[in-house]
Amino acid sequence: VELTERIAEIIAAHKDREGPMLPILHDIQEEWGFVPEAAQPIIAEALGLTRAEVHGVVSFYHDFRDHPSGRHVLRLCRAEACQSMGADALAAQVQAALGLDWHETTPDGRLTLEPVFCLGLCACAPSAQMGDRLMGRATLAKVQRLVAGAGA
Ligand code: FES
Repeated sequence: VELTERIAEIIAAHKDREGPMLPILHDIQEEWGFVPEAAQPIIAEALGLTRAEVHGVVSFYHDFRDHPSGRHVLRLCRAEACQSMGADALAAQVQAALGLDWHETTPDGRLTLEPVFCLGLCACAPSAQMGDRLMGRATLAKVQRLVAGAGA
């Protein structure tokens, strides 16, 4: 199915709801792993919005991305319990070691770095996640092993 056709189907499924934009974006991201640039004018037209408004929503919510993520996604928790246990310092170390800022992907497309807000591991903060692997009491060395272990 063509991208535009499939997007039209997704829009049609949500158009009559109240606040259709977020469910539409969620479904699109679910299907492609990101919200393709080409989808944004189609959504804008269907909902009677400007492209800038749709783009604004896509970039406002951390859940949405407008380009594909890397094959692996490393998430570092930035919520309160982890912050109080040094999550910011850990994030700075990991960012420096990987050469990635938040939401960035390595040039070879292997790894994307994303913030996350609570992984439910507050008791052993700071925490990290990669794929289905969760890590508590994260340190730079442990995160690097996690990344290496995933082949990223
Ligand atoms: Fe980080 Fe809950 S605040 S796991």
